[in-house]
Amino acid sequence: MKIGITGATGQLGRIVVNKLKEKVSADSIIALVRSSSKAADLGVSTREADYEKPETLESALKDIDTLLLISSSEVGKRATQHQNVIDAARKNGVKWIVYTSLLHADTSTISLAGEHLQTEAALKQSGIPFTILRNGWYTENYGGAIPGAIAGDALLGSAGDGKISAASRKDYAEAAVAVLTTNGHQGKVYELAGDEAFTLTDLGAEISKQSRKNIPYKNLPEDEYATILTNFGLPAGLAAAIAGWDAGISKGDLFDDSKQLSSLISRPTTPIAEVVAEAIKQS
Ligand SMILES: NC(=O)c1ccc[n+]([C@@H]2O[C@H](COP(=O)([O-])OP(=O)(O)OC[C@H]3O[C@@H](n4cnc5c(N)ncnc54)[C@H](OP(=O)(O)O)[C@@H]3O)[C@@H](O)[C@H]2O)c1
Repeated sequence: MKIGITGATGQLGRIVVNKLKEKVSADSIIALVRSSSKAADLGVSTREADYEKPETLESALKDIDTLLLISSSEVGKRATQHQNVIDAARKNGVKWIVYTSLLHADTSTISLAGEHLQTEAALKQSGIPFTILRNGWYTENYGGAIPGAIAGDALLGSAGDGKISAASRKDYAEAAVAVLTTNGHQGKVYELAGDEAFTLTDLGAEISKQSRKNIPYKNLPEDEYATILTNFGLPAGLAAAIAGWDAGISKGDLFDDSKQLSSLISRPTTPIAEVVAEAIKQS
């Protein structure tokens, strides 16, 4: 049985491959990557698979039984890219696709949801058995903001009192591995999120506690936050998108208390306090 992993050279994919090697023989894992040289340390076979090049996907998916399709990082191109993968999977007779989507993709107002929903629809249309892992935010998303918050004496955002049920990449990777290596998941849609939800006010309090400084959360109107991010050097489109995601958080888009993630991995999810500790240690 061969398991193919796309995005295997990405941050999530690397953890998946390493965790999967603990459960199945390395010979049965194929890393589907854009650049084999980036995958040399993974310790599994690699095949070229570029979401933009259908011909590479068609040959890469030959004799793959199970495919973990890790969503592309190329926002705006993803629906087409993922469709290319699904088409190649159908041509090659792939028997099961596990796809990493977004938490509550069907109701979320977050701009990223649309492409994930299109891919979920494409999977349903393909006739290939599938499982959807609707991943919430990574706790690591906040690591980069912590040194800036400490330096600027405030954590900035537009998320209001919205609760964020984040978990670490390791948690989501272990969930993917649990699904790939056990039975009973076909046709299921999992809403995967952290056990402990936090608001950005809670995050500011945790940063304050660990840094022993007062770092309150300052909630800003969405356009003001986007302008500040642009002033920090982010491209205007990305700044507006990030501020918009916070607006989605304020509406509850990234909250989930179903604890399906900790249930799949049979342990509690990683708390945000660990990200804060790591960021402070490194700064
Ligand atoms: N839940 C969250 O908070 C969150 C945050 C960020 C992203 N995401 C989503 O989750 C995915 C995995 O997260 P991550 O942290 O592992 O992201 P990442 O480190 O940016 O990895 C993205 C992966 O996508 C691959 N990729 C991009 N374009 C491709 C293409 N045209 N053909 C083939 N592969 C392509 C990259 O390949 P290379 O290694 O060759 O660049 C990389 O392996 C992301 O891609 C994104 O869809 C979720």
